[in-house]
Amino acid sequence: MWGCRCRTLAGHAHPHPSERRSGPHATGLRLTAPDGPDGNPLLAYFLDNPGRLLHKWVHYFDIYHRYLAGFRDRPVVLIEFGVFHGGSLQMWKQYLGPQARIVGVDINPACTSLEEPQIEVVIGDQEDRGFLASLRELIGPADVVIDDGGHTMAQQIATFEEMFPALTPGGVYLVEDLHTSYWEEYGGGYRAPGTFIEYAKDLIDQLHGWHARDGQPEITDYTRGIGAMHVHDSVIVIDKHLVTAPEVRMTGKASF
Ligand SMILES: C[S@@+](CC[C@H](N)C(=O)[O-])C[C@H]1O[C@@H](n2cnc3c(N)ncnc32)[C@H](O)[C@@H]1O
Repeated sequence: MWGCRCRTLAGHAHPHPSERRSGPHATGLRLTAPDGPDGNPLLAYFLDNPGRLLHKWVHYFDIYHRYLAGFRDRPVVLIEFGVFHGGSLQMWKQYLGPQARIVGVDINPACTSLEEPQIEVVIGDQEDRGFLASLRELIGPADVVIDDGGHTMAQQIATFEEMFPALTPGGVYLVEDLHTSYWEEYGGGYRAPGTFIEYAKDLIDQLHGWHARDGQPEITDYTRGIGAMHVHDSVIVIDKHLVTAPEVRMTGKASF
């Protein structure tokens, strides 16, 4: 299963957001970058793609550049679930620079043919927790994990629970195509229990575990490990940090 983008661009399943929304993204394409005259290098790469087939929702490029720019030109490890034709792996390689190690994970064995210097491909099912445990062992700590795989609820939740612990502090975890949380064929439904959107709401509770008055929400590994959650249309970015109990202080002189 490729998820919604492939189905959408094949013209069979769901309309592109630009066809069904109004508001700031009504055109669907935001081709000017938010970060100055040089623009967004990821978007520039995508629009003039010299490499393999690459299939992304265009508004994701702002999100990527906002959260991934700090990882460029450093010896980082990026794992992306969902290889497709390998275009995004080549894009990450070009964007992150020569020190980056890029690991693609896919259920399709044909994807191994897409390996090249700096790019490794591991074959497995992202819903299989045993496989994910062996992947953690094989790859070691990662700085960036991107879930652009099959986009079902079970896949997204299993992959997050098994791979978030593999992130280094300061790392980021991105889950893409979260609109599938509203689509039955992916296990979704509006406010249906078990969707990744509902799961993320529970993570928000856990993030606030320090402030519980009656034992709920509990302090969990996510309370101690999530620095922030950033919610965008169809993408959640979760920052990994080693969090300690927050403290409140007052400074300065009283006014009354
Ligand atoms: C949306 S495409 C990936 C697009 C690619 N990241 C890009 O930007 O061009 C989704 C991919 O997820 C893979 N996939 C689907 N189900 C999977 C699963 N259970 N485990 C691992 N990969 C899966 C598919 O084989 C497909 O290549």
